[in-house]
Formats: sequence, C-alpha cells, structure tokens
Amino acid sequence: MRISSNTIPEDEPIPDCEHCTKNQLAYIVYDQFDNIDPSKNAKHYNTYAQKYDAMHDKAGFNDPYWLTKVIVERLGSQPNHPLSHSACRLMDFGCGTGRLGVELKKAGYVNISGVDGSTEMINVAYSKGCYQAEHIYSLLVGIDALPSEIVYDASKPGSGFDAVLASATMLPGHFPNSCYSEMLKVLRPGGYLLFSIRDNMMDPDTDEGCNFVGKLEELVVAGEMIFVDSVAYAKYRGLDLGPCMSETPASVKIYKKKTEKPMTN
Ligand SMILES: C[S@@+](CC[C@H](N)C(=O)[O-])C[C@H]1O[C@@H](n2cnc3c(N)ncnc32)[C@H](O)[C@@H]1O
Repeated sequence: MRISSNTIPEDEPIPDCEHCTKNQLAYIVYDQFDNIDPSKNAKHYNTYAQKYDAMHDKAGFNDPYWLTKVIVERLGSQPNHPLSHSACRLMDFGCGTGRLGVELKKAGYVNISGVDGSTEMINVAYSKGCYQAEHIYSLLVGIDALPSEIVYDASKPGSGFDAVLASATMLPGHFPNSCYSEMLKVLRPGGYLLFSIRDNMMDPDTDEGCNFVGKLEELVVAGEMIFVDSVAYAKYRGLDLGPCMSETPASVKIYKKKTEKPMTN
C-alpha cells in the first residue's frame, strides 16, 4: 500500500498553537540540548521525564504516529508480511516515555522491547505497560555495548527482532550515526529498520556534522541493508515557536537488513 502524505490524516496529532505560543519560553528552555554529548542529554531528559508527555501532547508531536502508520500500512498490511503478525518482535531504540510503544500497542502489537539512555524516561515508559517489563534496557546507543541477549545470534532459533524503530532520535547530541550498525546488530536477517528524521538532518549542508546520510549510504553500498522507502510528513504542523519547535518537513525512512538470498522490499 502506498501512503499519500499529501492528504493530512484526520487522526494525526496537531499542535495546540495557542497554548504552545503562550508557553513558548518553556519549549525554548526544553530545547536546550547538548549538541555533542548524549550522556549530558540523558540527564536533561531525566529532568523532563515527568513533563515530556504533556509538552509533546500540546505540541502535536507526531513521529510515533507516523512510524506506526508506516509500519502498519506500508509493511504490515501486505499478506503474510512478518510485520502483519501482532506477536512480531519490535525494538524501540530511544523509547523515551514510551509514546511509540503506546501507538504500536494501539495498532495491535504485543511484543515490544525498548532501549533508552535516560532512566527517568524509561520509568515513565515502563509505567504505561506497553513494553515487556524485562525488555527495557538503559543504555546509550553508540556508546554502551548492547546486551548480548538482544543481539541477533544465528545459532539461536527465534533470535533477532523483526523491526527496530527509532522516533525522534536522529538529532545532534542524541544518536550518533553509528546507531544504524547497532540497530542492524539486533535485527534478524531481512528485518526492518525504520526511523523518523527531519529533512535537514538528511542533508550534509544542514546536518550539523551528524552525517546520517553518509553512514546510511555506506551500509547500503557495503550490502548490509537496502533502502525500501521514505514517507514524508510535516512535524509540528502550523506551529511557529522560532528555532525550537516549528513546522518542519520530515520523513519516515525504511531500510531492510540483508538476507542470505537476493532481497526484495
Ligand atoms: C526526543 S526524545 C524521543 C523519545 C521517544 N522516541 C518519542 O518519540 O517520544 C529522544 C530520546 O532519545 C534518548 N536518547 C538520546 N540519545 C540517546 C542515546 N545515544 N542512546 C540512548 N537513548 C538516547 C533520550 O533519552 C530521549 O528519551
């Protein structure tokens, strides 16, 4: 199924522009991330864990909505697709307070794990009951080693995730571009890698040195994964809070990990 993002879906979260404009200072202060160091940002998120959901509800934060829409309509709707099964294994990289887990659970998925660098964000995610309790891990992606129990192991039947998703983590000071190799490590062969990203982070002229595009190309050229599709949407539709949260073009990118056999998407 093709998803047309020309028509705005009726159920897409939309910002409460009046509220956000009145509280602009709070959003500007929240947006003060360290552009280099994920461990400093983990502390920043610890202090925002209790406020994060309310602020993002009001801002019409829609990355989890779009990732879920794409996994369900673009992949899961295909007959016999591995992601059409409610029990398929999903891993949410940078799960934060679990907003993506909530959307995935609403869509019927029941087997969701998560990883995040902020213990306080994880505590909120855990309280929502969307992730399996023993399957939320506290670690910094690209810095800490992944626990061996989540790394794909060809010798163990059933090992590896069917999809790894990352919502709003491809930002300066958040996930380094080595995250894609880390995501591939937990995927089974033929598993899907999906992430949301602002268009400016996919452009070497505006990505503040993150070089996400270069790393993705490197992995495709090396035959580690193939590009499947990109679905465009607008973040913070209609919102204008200056350089922090304002309407921005973004997309959900889909890649597929290599299999032993020739691949189709
Ligand atoms: C903007 S929030 C997005 C949270 C969630 N995915 C969502 O859509 O609401 C970014 C999240 O990424 C986490 N994070 C940032 N850099 C990280 C890293 N290197 N490793 C693990 N988590 C990281 C933060 O702790 C935070 O929870």
